[in-house]
Amino acid sequence: MPSKYLYFILANIFLFGLNIQNVLANDCEILTNALTNFSSNLKTQIGGAKNCCWQKGVACNSEKQIVSLEFTDSYSVLGNKGIPSEIGNLLNLEKLNLSYNSMNGELPSSIGKLKNLKFLNLKDNHFEGYIPYEYKNLENLETLYVFFL
Ligand SMILES: *[C@@H]1O[C@H](CO)[C@@H](O)[C@H](O)[C@H]1NC(C)=O
Ligand SMILES: *[C@@H]1O[C@H](CO)[C@@H](O)[C@H](O)[C@H]1NC(C)=O
Repeated sequence: MPSKYLYFILANIFLFGLNIQNVLANDCEILTNALTNFSSNLKTQIGGAKNCCWQKGVACNSEKQIVSLEFTDSYSVLGNKGIPSEIGNLLNLEKLNLSYNSMNGELPSSIGKLKNLKFLNLKDNHFEGYIPYEYKNLENLETLYVFFL
C-alpha cells in the first residue's frame, strides 16, 4: 500500500515542521520564565503571552522571535535583582539594553551565547565581579556599555 506509506511520510513531515515552528515560536515563553523573579507586574504584562512582541520594551522579527529587549530607566519594574541567565536563551537577540536600572549581582555568562547580539548596554547598574570570559564569543558586538557604579 504505497499510499499508506506516503501518508505516513507526509504526516511526519507535517509534525516535524510543526515542531520546528514551536521551537522558533518559544521566545516569549523563555522571556516569561526569565522574568519570573522580577515584579509580578512585569511578569503579568509580558506574561504567559504566546505573543509578547507588542509589549513595551520588546521587539520581534516577522517570525515572532525576540530581537530586542529594552527595559531601561525602570527601577520600579526590574528592581534590584540580577540579570536572569535565561536571557541567554533568546538566541535571536540583537539588542539588549538594561541601562539605568539598579540591577545587582554578577553578569550571567549565558549572555555569551547571544551570537547575534550587536548592542549590549548595561550602563548605570550595580553589577559586581568581572565581565564573563564567555563574552568573547559575542563576535557581532558593535557596542558595549558596561559601567559598574
Ligand atoms: C528565582 O528565585 C529562586 C529562589 O531564589 C531561584 O531558585 C530561581 O533559580 C530563580 N529563577 C530565575 C529564573 O531566576
Ligand atoms: C539604551 O537606553 C538608554 C536609556 O533609555 C538610551 O539612552 C540608549 O540610547 C539606549 N542604547 C541603545 C544601544 O539603544
